Amino acid sequence: MSLFATKPLERILREAEGVGEHTTLNRTLGASALVALGIGAIIGAGIFTLTGVAAGNHAGPAIVLSFILSAFGCALAGFCYSEFATMIPIAGSAYTYSYATMGEIVAWIIGWDLVLEYAVGAATVSIGWSSTLVSILHSVGINLPPQLIASPFQPVQLPSGELVHGYVNLPAVLVVAAMTWLLVTGIQESATVNNVVVVLKVAVVIIFIVVGYGYVNPTNYEPFIPVNEGPGKFGWEGILRGAGLIFFAYVGFDAVSTAAQEAKNPKRDMPIGIIGSLAVCTVLYILYSRVLTGVVNYKDLAVPAPLAVALDRIPMPWLAISMKIASLAGLTSVILVMLLGQSRVFFSMSRDGLLPGLFSKLHPNYRTPYLSNIVMAVFVGLFSAFAPVTVVGEMTSIGTLFAFVLVSIGILIMRKSHPNAERPFRTPLVPFIPILSAAVNALMMFGLGWENWMRLIVWLVIGMAIYFGYGKSHSKVQAGL
Ligand code: ALA
Repeated sequence: MSLFATKPLERILREAEGVGEHTTLNRTLGASALVALGIGAIIGAGIFTLTGVAAGNHAGPAIVLSFILSAFGCALAGFCYSEFATMIPIAGSAYTYSYATMGEIVAWIIGWDLVLEYAVGAATVSIGWSSTLVSILHSVGINLPPQLIASPFQPVQLPSGELVHGYVNLPAVLVVAAMTWLLVTGIQESATVNNVVVVLKVAVVIIFIVVGYGYVNPTNYEPFIPVNEGPGKFGWEGILRGAGLIFFAYVGFDAVSTAAQEAKNPKRDMPIGIIGSLAVCTVLYILYSRVLTGVVNYKDLAVPAPLAVALDRIPMPWLAISMKIASLAGLTSVILVMLLGQSRVFFSMSRDGLLPGLFSKLHPNYRTPYLSNIVMAVFVGLFSAFAPVTVVGEMTSIGTLFAFVLVSIGILIMRKSHPNAERPFRTPLVPFIPILSAAVNALMMFGLGWENWMRLIVWLVIGMAIYFGYGKSHSKVQAGL
């Protein structure tokens, strides 16, 4: 059969109904849990760390415009995701959508690409989690051995002041292991933990906005758009570069779509979860970056911990420590949702025969894909332990943007191939919105530079080798099953 064989929509929907109590996922998530799931995945390392570099080196006070631009690309893709997530409410998300529209090989590419978004994204955030933990422990006088808190690519300072490279980032590995344990024991418990954490991190961002507002110095907003100083440095070009960089801060809203099979009423609640969580975070990000660049001049913000610089200007020591603790909790939930998304994508790929059966084997009691979670924890843990944070961060962004582009094109194909299928949510202004979405997100991909393109290509070549070595010969669609 052709490499572009599609999986019929009717069959996908039939499978979603489940084939028996012990082989389907539990439907436990309502609208607010889905919004919380989205926020849980979105607010994390991006807003707490990248905002400073993006403002300090690229956009200046106009970083708010970068946030708006990046949100624009995400919102366009969010509409497309919502249409698919209501039409095909299956765990695999973008992977399943492409299987129905663009055929098996494209579906494989996107499923493989999503590993960059979810698994590599989880590793990126676990590295941020580790630095935050180290900094909290340091402020209470506990110093972990430097070689055990950083990868071989990350320089760390010894008590003597000497700079050495780490051996392994152990806290990052441990948090991945802990989140995997939560996922193995059940999504209901994971959702409860996630809700608590989301309330905490949203509260802290709001407190910073409200308290920080009183310490804004209006002269810091002048000039709002600093004059261009070279490629990607300030001016409108800098705003664009900043938008590409802080895109990472929005990554995760689409993870809501991977939980479609666990939603109580996916047709109504998926768009609420996807667009709702994105909207809440966009507003928070714009206000947060506005206050941050008002409290601290953008020239002083290009540091790894910009929030700490701002908190130093606010004479409330309790605020600094509670922000750190809440951001630690916040990063924890990002890792949780990313790992959840990853295992759900592999669940679907395995059900289709493209990956070995162990990825869809459910635990007899918990009914979670526990083996998949454990295998992924090993993979993610290796990145957490040994990879440099900037590389994994940019790989996450390019992988996610690539998925956005393919999903947007998928909407155009699906409208042509299945014009009459039931669409509880319709992307507005088709074909304009999907085309614009593909274009804007492709533009942001280009902004990430050739090194990231090379990494994406290498990753996809490895994926092709696995597909031709295993997936194609085990595919149920290829076998006509
Ligand atoms: N958006 C997530 C974060 O910034 C990935 O941590």
